[in-house]
Amino acid sequence: MNDEAPVVRAEGLRRTYGTTRALDGLDMTVARGSVHGVLGPNGSGKTTLVRTMATLLRVGEGRAEVAGFDVAARPKDVRRRIGLLGQHAAVDEELSGRQNLELFGRLYHLGGRRAAARATQLLERFGLADTGRKPVGTYSGGMRRRLDLAASLIVDPEILFLDEPTTGLDPRGRTEVWESVRSLVGGGTTVLLTTQYLEEADQLADRISVLDHGRVIAEGAPERLKADLGGDRIDVVVRDADRLAETAALLAATAGVQGASGRADVETDPDGRRVSAPVADRMAALTRLVGALRDHGIEAEDVAVRRPTLDEVFLHLTGDQKEKTPR
Ligand SMILES: Nc1ncnc2c1ncn2[C@@H]1O[C@H](COP(=O)(O)OP(=O)(O)OP(=O)(O)O)[C@@H](O)[C@H]1O
Ligand SMILES: [Mg+2]
Repeated sequence: MNDEAPVVRAEGLRRTYGTTRALDGLDMTVARGSVHGVLGPNGSGKTTLVRTMATLLRVGEGRAEVAGFDVAARPKDVRRRIGLLGQHAAVDEELSGRQNLELFGRLYHLGGRRAAARATQLLERFGLADTGRKPVGTYSGGMRRRLDLAASLIVDPEILFLDEPTTGLDPRGRTEVWESVRSLVGGGTTVLLTTQYLEEADQLADRISVLDHGRVIAEGAPERLKADLGGDRIDVVVRDADRLAETAALLAATAGVQGASGRADVETDPDGRRVSAPVADRMAALTRLVGALRDHGIEAEDVAVRRPTLDEVFLHLTGDQKEKTPR
C-alpha cells in the first residue's frame, strides 16, 4: 500500500436499527499519520461508525477499509493494527490499573512477562505509575480515561479509534487526555476521534467531518470549517433592555461576517438582554464594537468573545434547530 492512500476509508456505509438509520450513506477518508475528528450530536452515528470500522459491528451496506484491508473480509488483519477506546470504560473497577493493563496484555496474547513490562511502560507514559497499584474505582475521571487510553495501546496500534475520549471530564481531565493524544500522534499513530465538542475537534484534529443523522454534512480543516461557520462569536449583554435593538444594529455593522443571507447573523435574546453574532476577526470586531457602544452611550454589562457551540454549528449547517433523534 502506498503512503498516500488513506488508512481509513468508508464508502456509502449504511446501517439501520429498525427504522432508525444509524449510518445513512457515510463517506470518509483518513490520511495516514493524521488526526481525524468526527463531530456530531447524540445519535448522529459516531459510535456506530467507530464500532463498524473496528470490526465490532458487521459492515451493513457499503464498504469499509482499514490499513488497506477490507473490514468485512479481513477483520483479523484489521484487528491486529488497531486500538479502540470505547465510549464507555472497558476497565474493571475492582482491579488496579496495573492489573487491568496486564489483563489486556494477556488478551492480546502477550505472555505474562511481556504483559507486565508493557503495563509498566504504559503506566509511566500516562502518568499513572504512582497509582498503578490502586483499584480503578478510586481513580478520578481523567485518570480512568487515561487508563482506557493506555489499554487501547497495548499492542501499539497503527490506527487508534477514540470514541468520545473526554465526555464527562472536567477541563483539567480533558486537557490531560488531549496531551496524551498529542504525544501519540507525535509518535506517528493515525487517530480517528469522535467528539461532541467543537473545541476538542479544533484542538486535536487536522480534519473534521461533521456528522448528522448518519451522514457527513460538512468536512474540512478546522480553520476552514470555522471560517465557513462564521468562526468566533461576540456576545454582548446590555444593561438596558431598551437599547437591545440598537446594540444589535451596531453589532451587525461591526461584526464583519456576512451570513448566507448577505447580512450579519445577529441573534437577539431579549430575556438575557444579550445579542450575539459571528465575527471574522475577533480583536478588530471587539475594538470596533466597544468604540461604537461608547459613542452611542450604550452601557454593556458584559462583552465576550467565544467559539461557536455545537448547537450553533448545527444551526448554521442545517438551518434549523430540530430535535436530534432521542436515544
Ligand atoms: N443497538 C442499537 N439498537 C437500536 N438502535 C441503536 C443501537 N445502537 C445505536 N442505535 C441508534 O442509532 C443511532 C446512532 O447511534 P450512535 O450510538 O451511533 O450515535 P452516537 O453519535 O454515538 O451518539 P452519542 O453521542 O449519544 O454516543 C441512534 O439513533 C441510536 O439510537
Ligand atoms: Mg456514541
